Amino acid sequence: MADRLRDKVALITGAGSGIGPATAVLFAQEGAKIALADLRSADLDTVEGVRVNALCPGFVFTNLTKALTDQPESRRFLEEKHPMGRLGQADEIARAALFLASDDASRS
Ligand SMILES: NC(=O)c1ccc[n+]([C@@H]2O[C@H](COP(=O)([O-])OP(=O)(O)OC[C@H]3O[C@@H](n4cnc5c(N)ncnc54)[C@H](O)[C@@H]3O)[C@@H](O)[C@H]2O)c1
Repeated sequence: MADRLRDKVALITGAGSGIGPATAVLFAQEGAKIALADLRSADLDTVEGVRVNALCPGFVFTNLTKALTDQPESRRFLEEKHPMGRLGQADEIARAALFLASDDASRS
């Protein structure tokens, strides 16, 4: 386990599916304390000292996009709209979140 996020706390919303759990697992592996929130989750944690960031990905392979990506025609249409010629994977978004949470992305 790496230790880049030791002493950090992350609040991850939508943690029950898709990008959320991929991010939660990666953050936990990096030593962060994680608070998970989801409409289908009963538990909500309150944290202090939260760093706020936002990720705005293109289309990512998750349950949200499955109806589109399962159809070859709409999948091709979407792939052509992305400069890299393909859709993203949840763990790629999780890695960007990890970078933003780490001291590598800190101004302080
Ligand atoms: N998958 C993509 O291509 C893509 C692209 C850009 C942005 N996004 C955004 O990223 C986020 C996650 O997408 P995903 O593909 O992992 O979706 P997903 O459907 O796989 O998972 C979303 C999770 O969020 C939970 N949720 C919904 N509303 C909530 C609320 N108000 N409070 C707490 N939890 C809530 C759902 O129960 C679900 O578990 C969404 O906001 C989506 O719009 C996704």
